[in-house]
Amino acid sequence: MAECRICGGTVDEFFDFGRQPVSDSFVTPETAGSEYFFRLAAGICTHCTMVQLLEEVPRERMFHEDYPYRSAGSSVMHDHFEAFARRLLETELSGADPFMVEIGSNDGTMLKTVQKAGGRHLGVDPSAQVGDFARADGVRVRTDFFEESSAREIAAGDGPADVIFSANTTSHIAYIDSVFRGADALLAPDGIFVIEDRYLGSIMAQQAFDQIYDEHFYLFSVTSVRRMADVFGFELIDAEPLTVHGGSMRYTIGRPGRRAVSPRVAEFLELEAGQGLASPETYRRFADGVRRTSRELVELLEKLRAEGRTVVGYGATAKSATAINYCGIGTDLVPFICDSTPAKQGRLTPGAHIPVRAPEAFADPYPDYALLFAWNHAEEIMAKEKAFREAGGRWILYVPDVHIV
Ligand code: SAM
Ligand code: TMP
Ligand code: ZN
Repeated sequence: MAECRICGGTVDEFFDFGRQPVSDSFVTPETAGSEYFFRLAAGICTHCTMVQLLEEVPRERMFHEDYPYRSAGSSVMHDHFEAFARRLLETELSGADPFMVEIGSNDGTMLKTVQKAGGRHLGVDPSAQVGDFARADGVRVRTDFFEESSAREIAAGDGPADVIFSANTTSHIAYIDSVFRGADALLAPDGIFVIEDRYLGSIMAQQAFDQIYDEHFYLFSVTSVRRMADVFGFELIDAEPLTVHGGSMRYTIGRPGRRAVSPRVAEFLELEAGQGLASPETYRRFADGVRRTSRELVELLEKLRAEGRTVVGYGATAKSATAINYCGIGTDLVPFICDSTPAKQGRLTPGAHIPVRAPEAFADPYPDYALLFAWNHAEEIMAKEKAFREAGGRWILYVPDVHIV
């Protein structure tokens, strides 16, 4: 029995993926085999309903100089962040000398819009290489983990923040109590702390089991984020559904009583209760679905191999580490994966050691089938690779179930 990292309640384990590698640890032939493995298992707190991992990977093993993920790898995500940065500039950041801090600023995709508008800003991200891309765009970055101590230093040096923004990062931070103490030290009295992340409701509805991996320590819902905000002395004031990454939610958090709470919060609480997001039966069904999908995916790949069809992977996502290693997909079924991220190309995927190649390799020649590990970017990738389908190629997806399009 594990103790909830938010409220100290009991975490009920609902799925064990076994020993899994660090998802963004793309190895070289020399370093392959010396990877760090941990037990990837997820559970739900019976008290506050926060879905969380049972074992934490030390943060320096995930986020370091070599961390390869780049936000700018998706033009949809680029446009998404630019649009929200503009909205913030017109609203929360429209006063005299506003200040915005981003937790997990990565390559500066979000903050460069604020920087261009002349807004005071600071990105905080421990991964040095991605931070250098942000700096090259003129974005101010502190290469560091955001936590209570760094937040206090930022507050002392730059003053209070009107906006603390964090996309696809807060869920990565197991020591989230320290993040909230940091937000408390840094946020202006009427400031907002905005968190965007994968939405548990979408993950459960789509059986998106590969959203569970080392970096996704928490899977947020409106119910659990509201409780979490409360536990750490804040208040959830809005929840805005987003289509990105296969279904996300933007949570706006403020100091208690400072702002009117949007009726959307209560609406989502009701929806989530109706969806059974706190009910053990939902997680039992999810677990059965994961086992079924995994079996069906491997059966399909084995059948295609027996028929002499070629299959290539598309998108060496962090998520794919769970799909590949849990299903037991090796180079015999998927000989390589195409990915546009320079830092992943020429490397091998963690665990299964499937080579990652540049997207140019995809058409050289086209395979019969492409297994889309980056299913959350399906629209963007299928549009980009339109010629593949026109040439007779077909996409294999495994979310919400195994199907071919
Ligand atoms: N915000 C970007 C986006 O949505 O595309 C990047 C998301 S990326 C999945 C997560 C980022 O969080 C990485 O760049 C990582 O280095 C950073 N990160 C991890 N722990 C952090 C912490 N404690 N404080 C700040 N950034 C952190
Ligand atoms: P994500 O699902 O964590 O955002 O990761 C997406 C991965 O897919 C990332 O490694 C970049 C890759 N990718 C491509 O190779 N081509 C594309 O067009 C897009 C959008 C992503
Ligand atoms: Zn709890």
